[in-house]
Amino acid sequence: MKTILITGGAGFIGSNFIYYMVEQHPDYKLINLDALTYAGNLENLKDVPDSANYTFIKGDIRDRELVDRIFNEYDITNVINFAAESHVDRSIEEPEIFLTTNIIGTQVLLDAAKKHWKVKPDDKYDREYKNDVKFFQVSTDEVYGDLGPTGLFTEETNLAPNSPYSASKTSADLLVRAYHVTYGMPMNITRCSNNYGSYQFPEKLIPLMLNNCINEKPLPVYGDGMQIRDWLHVYDHCSAIDTVLHEGRDGEVYNIGGNNEIANIEIVKLIINALGKSEDLITYVKDRPGHDRRYAIDNTKITTELGWKPSYTFEEGIRETINWYLENQTWMQNIVSGDYMKYYTDMYSKT
Ligand SMILES: NC(=O)c1ccc[n+]([C@@H]2O[C@H](COP(=O)([O-])OP(=O)(O)OC[C@H]3O[C@@H](n4cnc5c(N)ncnc54)[C@H](O)[C@@H]3O)[C@@H](O)[C@H]2O)c1
Repeated sequence: MKTILITGGAGFIGSNFIYYMVEQHPDYKLINLDALTYAGNLENLKDVPDSANYTFIKGDIRDRELVDRIFNEYDITNVINFAAESHVDRSIEEPEIFLTTNIIGTQVLLDAAKKHWKVKPDDKYDREYKNDVKFFQVSTDEVYGDLGPTGLFTEETNLAPNSPYSASKTSADLLVRAYHVTYGMPMNITRCSNNYGSYQFPEKLIPLMLNNCINEKPLPVYGDGMQIRDWLHVYDHCSAIDTVLHEGRDGEVYNIGGNNEIANIEIVKLIINALGKSEDLITYVKDRPGHDRRYAIDNTKITTELGWKPSYTFEEGIRETINWYLENQTWMQNIVSGDYMKYYTDMYSKT
């Protein structure tokens, strides 16, 4: 029986993962530690049944005392670290919080895991850990930087992050790796491409465009809109994490991608057409500095070694996602608050 500390479980992917795990592994105990930043929303979790083996704790992954107490109290067997500042645009405006949450926060979790999972925590040469423990770092394909017009990111691709966000995620990956090499920490790292699906905060491309399109507001598109991303439905990301959690070889990195390379502008036009609106809503804005042109994942390792594969085609997934946002407009309205609107205006009025 596992007791999993899920950090950042009130965010987009974390909340989807909690629903996934409650359904797939009802016997596992899930502890969700989330600081409820602007991106954390308990409304995302309102349909978790009362009967679920699930506990929410409001708190910060940088809080050593709290994290230590949680390990003690719940006898944690696994950490799945989703908690992060996750928006590239914000990292360009305000890098520091990305370093403290994404790097120091990860190190705090690693220290607690080391202390509680090592059989002899005070012996720095001893590498024996309790059975079935694992530290799981949820990372991103952005650690690999910009891909030219051809080729794919493999797990061997050099790390070359280009934004403060991706630099902080890369640093966290390297810390997890270092704890594995130096202290023998059992771990996996997954690097995933762009996710889409329900409960995504409307600063990210798909929910942002959907919300604006529904309300017939301008659709701000960076540069020429030809930035290519490899889109993965969030459910498939969750199933990949589940696979790596159970089957992943200790110390390995696995890329997760859906083989769906699509330019941002194509996504915007697809949403406009699905909602029957006019392409006149498209407003090109000055490109993000350092904006990577293309990401694309080679998922051969996870598909051949662990037998995982995505279940959604992009056509199915995006149709379902559009319907979800149309049916959950109250969820969106509750998020689009005064603070968010101010941020939004600041960010996209700079042409
Ligand atoms: N969204 C994507 O397309 C994508 C792709 C690849 C990897 N990832 C990674 O997946 C993870 C989750 O991404 P997401 O899109 O769900 O992000 P998100 O921004 O929607 O959610 C992040 C969550 O972390 C919480 N959090 C932030 N700082 C915290 C702190 N100091 N302590 C505790 N909780 C804190 C927030 O409250 C929020 O609930 C991140 O690590 C991100 O780097 C995301």
